[in-house]
Amino acid sequence: MYAFNIAADAPKAELYAELLNSADALTAGELDGIANMANIAALLWQFLPDLNWAGFYRMVDGELVLGPFQGKAACIRIPLDKGVCGAAARTGATQLAEDVHAFPGHIACDADSRSELVVPVKRDGVVVAVIDLDSPVPARFDAEDADGLEMLAKLLSTRI
Ligand code: SME
Repeated sequence: MYAFNIAADAPKAELYAELLNSADALTAGELDGIANMANIAALLWQFLPDLNWAGFYRMVDGELVLGPFQGKAACIRIPLDKGVCGAAARTGATQLAEDVHAFPGHIACDADSRSELVVPVKRDGVVVAVIDLDSPVPARFDAEDADGLEMLAKLLSTRI
């Protein structure tokens, strides 16, 4: 299978460049979106330090439904007016919660989560899924993580 060649303590720009290359190599030419989301969830989990959850929620009939992920079992359905994921899907904008307890309506799937980054995946301008990262470390995510995940979301636009 695909071999990765990056240290977890590499600068974030290098980490995300390598992650993007790996994601591209893993999903290029594969038409099955579930398989691609499963491999990307595994990739995020392997590449990014200090996560307790990494994966996808898919937009299905106007609500978010759990997709492939790594981490503990999670809430299956999220209405668009709930949580960090719902806010990302509803607004179409990246949501960076440095402190999930301060985020209105945050859904605590895993009590260990302290910070969260959710990036919408759009196809033809329409949100089709969100990528969700959770961390037990407060303020784990910054603008570089958001940029990296937004590039990943663009790559995946037609691959999930
Ligand atoms: N915390 C999320 C729910 C999904 S879990 O983190 C996997 C939210 O508030 O949307």
